[in-house]
Amino acid sequence: MRVVIIGTGYVGLNTAVMLAYLGNAVTCIDTNPDKVTLLKQGIVPIHEPHLDDVFASVHQRMRFTTDYAQADIPNADVIIIAVGTPSLPDGKANLTYLKQAAKALAEHLGETFTIIVNKSTVPIGAGNWVEGLIHDYYQELHPGKMKHNFNVISSPEFLSQGSALHNSFYPNRVIIGSEHAPSIERFSKLFEPIHLQNFEPPECLPRPEGLTEVPLFVCNLISAEMLKYAANAFLATKISFINEIGHLAQKVGADIDAIAKGIGLDPRIGNRFLNAGIGWGGSCFGKDTAALVAIAQEKGLDMSIVQAARDVNYQQRTWVVDTLNEKLGGLDGRRVTLLGFSFKPNTDDLRDAPSIDISRELVKRGAIVTAHDPIALDNARAQYPDLGVVYENDLSKALESPEAIILITEWPIYSTIDWAKVPKGVVLDGRNFLDTETLWQLGFDVIRFGK
Ligand code: UGA
Repeated sequence: MRVVIIGTGYVGLNTAVMLAYLGNAVTCIDTNPDKVTLLKQGIVPIHEPHLDDVFASVHQRMRFTTDYAQADIPNADVIIIAVGTPSLPDGKANLTYLKQAAKALAEHLGETFTIIVNKSTVPIGAGNWVEGLIHDYYQELHPGKMKHNFNVISSPEFLSQGSALHNSFYPNRVIIGSEHAPSIERFSKLFEPIHLQNFEPPECLPRPEGLTEVPLFVCNLISAEMLKYAANAFLATKISFINEIGHLAQKVGADIDAIAKGIGLDPRIGNRFLNAGIGWGGSCFGKDTAALVAIAQEKGLDMSIVQAARDVNYQQRTWVVDTLNEKLGGLDGRRVTLLGFSFKPNTDDLRDAPSIDISRELVKRGAIVTAHDPIALDNARAQYPDLGVVYENDLSKALESPEAIILITEWPIYSTIDWAKVPKGVVLDGRNFLDTETLWQLGFDVIRFGK
């Protein structure tokens, strides 16, 4: 099929590469000319495992442009909107990019029927809203005329950064939010190889064992939009729940990891997203929980569980600094090294990363902070040049003379540290990730969460 994708962020680019790999003719539009230049040269502008490899194999078949007029929109079978919807200060989603996309589509849609698929996480009802916008803009351009040859559907995306391409090929479900039979049929056709799992997997991304089919779940548009928020809010709440239990575990002398394992053996609870520690960050959970609370408020509802999940999450960051402060008897002038800066491993993304709030507070209280991360420090230097933190690429240098070390992100490389070479001091393991026995034997003062 001929597919046009608007927006080449994590969702747009991974989806584009996956669809191109499956044999579709994919054109990507992005308003950022630097990004488009890189993509044209075959360079992936984001860090995502295996994306470079699969992109290299399909690059020749893909097109990239900043100009809607060059994207052959009139002949597109499917147009996917995957633009960013970052948070506004009041928690609501910023829809500027979505509006721009709708306006441009109104200008360029042709006479052949096409479906417009909303993959961006948008306020509940936005699908209809985009449809309305396109109609309105079309009327402005062609007074008295109506455009009938398109239909907007919702297909929210559930990929996680760090495993985004894998999730694109092997999602646990594909949601189709529409009640329009021809649209459902066309979108199902596009996703048939994913549904039936009958494509030859990329060498670097073998199919998970036992995966024979991915469900295509059809529901109405508004439910599809809302279930995306519900999914993220549920996962965020699950993490905050285990963190709240962790505080009590610590007080009574229980072990949060044992509790998580023990409850997770019940399939009704499940063992994933129960890793206690510093809590969640990233571009999604914070943004989507805030949006859900704001949308509910507009409807006169109080989302107390989701709000509590947010409160617990952001208190975890304060817990880290307060705990270290207590342990060291003050932070003024103390040398602290942070291991990991990205919001989770396998990404260089710093959006809502706990490292930022923690660094800011440590520096405010007088600590001398050094931060290491395998790949996120270029972003840190560019985005947070004034945080007052020394960004150190060399792990052994970062570990030369700290009085305290905080493990923020569980990058695999940190499990290979030769602790015998690190000066003894306090280690606060914010992800319960390090080998505590070894650290104890070597004489480190180890703080773990919920233990
Ligand atoms: C999340 C969802 O998992 C995806 O399904 C969704 O598509 C995506 O948001 C989105 O809306 O675009 P992502 O933010 O990339 O994906 O990363 P996650 O793996 O969910 O991790 C989020 C945060 O939770 C990370 O900071 C991670 O360290 C933390 N986390 C995760 C925990 O603290 N404990 C856990 O047990 C799991």
